[in-house]
Amino acid sequence: MLFAVSDLHVSHAGNRAVVSAFWPETEHDWLILAGDIAEQESDFEWAISLLADRFEKVIWTPGNHELWSTPNDKLKLPGELRYKHLVKICRRYGVATPEDPFLRYTCQDGSHVTIAPIFTLYDYSFRNAADHTALQAVERARRSGAMSSDEFFLKAFPYQSVMNWCDERVAYTDERLRQLDSEEPIVLVSHFPLIKEATNGLKNPDFAIWCGTNKTRKMVEQLNAKLVIYGHLHLPSVDIYEGVIHAEVSLGYPKERENQPPNSFLVELETLLYDAKGENYSPQMDHLRSVGL
Ligand SMILES: [Fe+2]
Ligand SMILES: [Fe+2]
Repeated sequence: MLFAVSDLHVSHAGNRAVVSAFWPETEHDWLILAGDIAEQESDFEWAISLLADRFEKVIWTPGNHELWSTPNDKLKLPGELRYKHLVKICRRYGVATPEDPFLRYTCQDGSHVTIAPIFTLYDYSFRNAADHTALQAVERARRSGAMSSDEFFLKAFPYQSVMNWCDERVAYTDERLRQLDSEEPIVLVSHFPLIKEATNGLKNPDFAIWCGTNKTRKMVEQLNAKLVIYGHLHLPSVDIYEGVIHAEVSLGYPKERENQPPNSFLVELETLLYDAKGENYSPQMDHLRSVGL
C-alpha cells in the first residue's frame, strides 16, 4: 500500500505520539512524507530513522520548517547548506529525496506510477492581483496579520532571496521532469501546493504568498500528473482541478486536531488513484473519512 502524510511537526509531544503509532499494514508498504517534519535536526532524524525502519520505502521532500535557522538552532547551517545536510541524513536511512532518481511504485492491479518528490519553494507569485511586487504583497499580509515566520527564519543562502532559490529549484525540477516517460501516470509530491487554487481554503488569503509559485502550474498541466500530494496549509482535503487530484495530507499541530476523533492520519493513495480512473469519480470526502481525516 502507498501512504502519505505531511506536517508531522514532531517537536510537539502530541505529534510524536501519533508518529510513533505509524505502522505499515504490509511489509511492502511505502510512505510519502511531504515536509515539515521538524525544525531541529535531532527531531528530524528521529522521525526519519523510525519510519525508514518500519516502511519498505520512505520518500521525503522538505517543508519550510526543516529549513528554518532559529536562534536556538544547533545545526547552524542556513538555506541550501541545511537542505543538503538533510538530504545526507535521508540517504543514511535509504530515504528518497528530490535529489534522487524518481521512484516507480507497482499498484495492486500491476500498473505502475512514477513518484516524483519535488522541492520548488515559493516566490510570492500567489499574490493579490493589486500587488505588483513581492514587497507590496508582504506589506499587505503584514497589515492583515498574516506574517509568516519564514520571513525571519528561512534563510536562502547562498541565494540572494527565497525567490532566487525558488527560480533555481524550478529550473532543476523542470529539467528532471522533462526526462520522464510521458505515458506513465505521475504522482507529484511537494510540501507546497502546486497551483494557486489549492490555497483557496486559507482563512487569510494574504498568507498564500508563502505557499507556492505560479511556475509549478505547468508541471501539473503538461505532465501526465494524476495526483499531487502536498501539505503546508494544515487543511486536509482532496480536490480535483482540471482532472488532476490534489490531496492535502497534513497532520498539523495538536491544537488544530482538538475535538477530532482519534485516527490513523496516514492517507492511503491507491484508493484515490483507482477511484480517479473511473469516469464518474468526484472528489468525495468519503475516502478521507475512511482514514479518519
Ligand atoms: Fe506545517
Ligand atoms: Fe509548511
